[in-house]
Amino acid sequence: MLNYAFRGVERFWFPLRMLSLQSFADINMEFRRMQIVRGLYQVGGDMNGITFDGQDAGYRDGNSYLLEAPEGLVLFDAGCGDTLDQIFANMAYWGFSPDDIKVCVLTHAHFDHAAGAHLLKKRGVKLIAHTNTAEAVAAGDERCCGYLYHKTFTPCEIDQCVEGGERVDVLGVSLDVMHLPGHSMGCTAFLFDWEGKRVCVSGDVIGTLLDGHFGWSGSFDFDKEVYLESLIRFSRIDTDMMLPGHGMIYFHKPRRRVEEAMNNALIEWR
Ligand SMILES: [Fe+2]
Repeated sequence: MLNYAFRGVERFWFPLRMLSLQSFADINMEFRRMQIVRGLYQVGGDMNGITFDGQDAGYRDGNSYLLEAPEGLVLFDAGCGDTLDQIFANMAYWGFSPDDIKVCVLTHAHFDHAAGAHLLKKRGVKLIAHTNTAEAVAAGDERCCGYLYHKTFTPCEIDQCVEGGERVDVLGVSLDVMHLPGHSMGCTAFLFDWEGKRVCVSGDVIGTLLDGHFGWSGSFDFDKEVYLESLIRFSRIDTDMMLPGHGMIYFHKPRRRVEEAMNNALIEWR
């Protein structure tokens, strides 16, 4: 009981703490960039003030991660589009040019993660996503939830569609594709080995706060039953670092966060 009481306080307190960090980030631009490990960076995401779209901090701009792959830069998720120049500025701090981004991998089609994709494509960046995400991004319809932000999602074509269970070589890095539908039907995690660690870019499959709570459940293509099946499969996977779609990267037994998210889902959805 005490544990649940604490979680209630934490859920209230944590976003407030994030907002105070955001205010500080506005003053001190040095906070708007972060190296995770060698060759891997968080370059976008408004929940921890890496980017900021001028509105409330939180869920308006998903996390974007930059991987310095052997054959070029890979960007995981494109953000909401309005923050693309901030992403480029964060890259410039580490000496990277936006022209060096060769590939952008999308975790799903929601606006805060994929609305910037058409801008990257115009720059010649190759887009990779699950087939279901590709359909949604090409349609630019309500599955992309532009309405949630009172903005229009600009559709575009994905260059390479992938399926769950595939292993794809992306600029010299082997990405294992794990299709985890439920939050949206295209939700996909991408797993790879980097710096001796197993890394998972998880998008919005699990929650982004430290108690493993999952996020928004309002997507047009949200499905509880399918989501639970995905969480069961995901909870069986061990990784060393989980890079979520919002909020903080997790370095200690990320599988436990997935198990907590599954526990929360079982409690709240049945
Ligand atoms: Fe999402």
